[in-house]
Amino acid sequence: MAGIIRRRATPMPFAATLEREQLQEQPAWSVLRPTAPEPASGVRMPPILEARDLTKVYTLGKTTVEALRGVTMSVAPGEFVALMGPSGSGKSTLLQLLGGLDRPTTGSVVFEGRDISGLSDSQATKLRRERTGYIFQAFNLIPLLNVSENIALPFTIAGGPKDQKERVRQVIDLVELTGKERHRPDQLSAGEQQRVAVARALVTRPSVLLADEPTGNLDYTNSGELLDALWRSCEHGGQTIVLVTHDARAAAYADRVLVIGDGHLQEEIVLGRRPDHSAAPLIARLAQVGL
Ligand SMILES: Nc1ncnc2c1ncn2[C@@H]1O[C@H](COP(=O)(O)OP(=O)(O)OP(=O)(O)O)[C@@H](O)[C@H]1O
Ligand SMILES: [Mg+2]
Repeated sequence: MAGIIRRRATPMPFAATLEREQLQEQPAWSVLRPTAPEPASGVRMPPILEARDLTKVYTLGKTTVEALRGVTMSVAPGEFVALMGPSGSGKSTLLQLLGGLDRPTTGSVVFEGRDISGLSDSQATKLRRERTGYIFQAFNLIPLLNVSENIALPFTIAGGPKDQKERVRQVIDLVELTGKERHRPDQLSAGEQQRVAVARALVTRPSVLLADEPTGNLDYTNSGELLDALWRSCEHGGQTIVLVTHDARAAAYADRVLVIGDGHLQEEIVLGRRPDHSAAPLIARLAQVGL
């Protein structure tokens, strides 16, 4: 069976949160690390990321926008989840809250077993720097730095590990830019630039990679190459990914698609891990729910 739709009437159950000590021992991301074996039937992995009844209200002068109206979801370690929904439905808002870029109005975000909703600015910065990777639709590369230097930027800012050079080499290999290490962004195609942004987000070996429409500015071929790179990091490196996209072809790379509408989680479409990434089953199911 290619996939199922679960209409969400009740919040997803939460697995027990991890002890802090266990969290410290999580293996670092590695392109060489094989995917974790599937747990035995009936055993649920504790989530790496959870949203619990999240709301977000933006205030602009006298007007308020209810961007999220109570979203509950969870992401398992090594899972690839896509967030879809119409423009203005709250996808980017949700991703920013999940990544600690902003705070919810009510509700909480639990990341690696820790509630991050009330972190101070400096704690949130540390979390973003060390534990999450974020990719935006605009590539945000530094024009004067070459590929290797752009990728190593998180280490330049925060200090790098001993194996920095090897890590940079591995992620360049992952995004298939070997040989272009010395190119500056203006000497790369749009797709290659976005793959540099992917490599930069992965080089710190984040627990979760959050990507907001990373293929939005790319053509068909370049989108495919970027999605293949994300897929390799997930399938071969065990990378957890949350991808916001309007594109069913991109979402079809995911294990599970969550559809957001009007600030609510409306549907969960389980595709499962499928090496062929065929979008047909997802498109058929999205049509059933009017997307
Ligand atoms: N900083 C902000 N201040 C005020 N309103 C905001 C802010 N950011 C988002 N909004 C509003 O919140 C709602 C959800 O926005 P969000 O950017 O999360 O939508 P989205 O699903 O990502 O849309 P798109 O697909 O167009 O990127 C929209 O009505 C938007 O106008
Ligand atoms: Mg958005």
